Amino acid sequence: MSENDDSVAAGKALWHGRFATGPSEELMAFTVSLPFDKRLWADDITGSRAHVAMLGVSGILDGATVGAIDVALTQVHDEMSSGHFEFVASDEDIHTAIERRVTQIAGDAGARLHTGRSRNDQVATALRLWCKREIRVVIDNVLSLVDVLHARASEADAAKDPVYLPGYTHLQRAQPVLLSHHLRAHGWALMRDADRLFDALARLDVSPLGAGALAGSSLPIDPQRSADLLGFAKAFDNSLDAVSDRDFVAEILAHIALLGVHLSRIGEEWVLWTSEEFGFAILDDAYATGSSMLPQKKNADIAELARGKAGRLIGNLTGLLTTLKGLPLAYNRDLQEDKEPLFDSVDQVRRALIALAGMVSSATFKTDVMVHAGNADSLAATDLAEWLVERGVPFRRAHAIVGEVVRSAINTGNPLAEVVSQHADLGDEAAQLIAPGSAIRRRRSRGGAGPSVSADQTTRFRDELSRLRRRG
Ligand code: ARG
Repeated sequence: MSENDDSVAAGKALWHGRFATGPSEELMAFTVSLPFDKRLWADDITGSRAHVAMLGVSGILDGATVGAIDVALTQVHDEMSSGHFEFVASDEDIHTAIERRVTQIAGDAGARLHTGRSRNDQVATALRLWCKREIRVVIDNVLSLVDVLHARASEADAAKDPVYLPGYTHLQRAQPVLLSHHLRAHGWALMRDADRLFDALARLDVSPLGAGALAGSSLPIDPQRSADLLGFAKAFDNSLDAVSDRDFVAEILAHIALLGVHLSRIGEEWVLWTSEEFGFAILDDAYATGSSMLPQKKNADIAELARGKAGRLIGNLTGLLTTLKGLPLAYNRDLQEDKEPLFDSVDQVRRALIALAGMVSSATFKTDVMVHAGNADSLAATDLAEWLVERGVPFRRAHAIVGEVVRSAINTGNPLAEVVSQHADLGDEAAQLIAPGSAIRRRRSRGGAGPSVSADQTTRFRDELSRLRRRG
């Protein structure tokens, strides 16, 4: 081992040669990323193994050296997974720490690990490997929540009588909708989220390894071989792009932000549904919280935090985009700011998905309250107008007639059915449309909210869910 390898093994910076003194405490305190990039350790080792194997195949390192590095990497892997790896003060990041340790273990061979490689292509490789694995888990969590919505929807569909509630526009009662239709509406949004995350996975499946610091290498390295060894779909095409591209992080953060917005909307509805004012659902005790002062309280904190976290997820996206926007090619240390928002968004959205799945699956629907609200007279108003349309009245005139009828019922305090049956253009037959259960049964157009068209939607929903399960 040369004097320089000894210095690195003893804890000097990998780049100490150019510097007369070591880094200041302030510099280290401000620039280290080890506390948060530690979680890339397994991916960093995977990247190093492939890199060293490529160096061996390309004739840059001999077999004994490759073997010695591999043994050292295995030891580091063991130390990391058992929690026995000892970090030292000079470990700026996980990549530095692992190379330092490999050099300690394998001496001269270890000092050859970084041949033809830079931390710039190394970190981009580790991060892409991390995303390839972890985003699949996020997708799985999304699909599990979709499963729960689908299961609750199917349970409602299996009831003897249709289970419905008012559908709202402007949060004003509009027309009745099946509970299953409502639950699956959220499911469709979540399935688009899963689909988008799959798209992001396909686009990020590019190996940056071999781009070096920014311009490739003078050594006969083989980036395609590294890509193959790592299981990437392809190798990078442009070294500058390879080390400066964080589109994949931005894309994931964007998809998670939108997913977070969808969860937030679900959360907001459950806050409403579980309020005494709506009374549509009761949370299981295990998925609700109490108040430290108000003994009677049962709060929907999961739903509220699902709503609240969306701000943070959007913040992570806008933070990263702002970091990226002024950067000249190629690597800049600013790029280190990609990891915390990525890890945070992935962690937060996963917890939200899992908690919401538990909350929705364990809740009790107050279907009697829903159906009662869904039977409110005014929810049949559009059906009255469409009844007139079926009798040749232009829709705009029909709309005005029914609007006046509704106004008169409100002003006189008389039941809508009575006003309708006495109206010259409407009468008893039209008044039947206000009977409980009539409006929901009349929602019969394709994709609509009524029972006669729900079976076919359920099939399409199930097909899309299994397509997504098979995708990737
Ligand atoms: N910790 C750094 C990051 O996450 C690793 C790359 C450092 N590269 C460098 N040239 N200083 O981006």
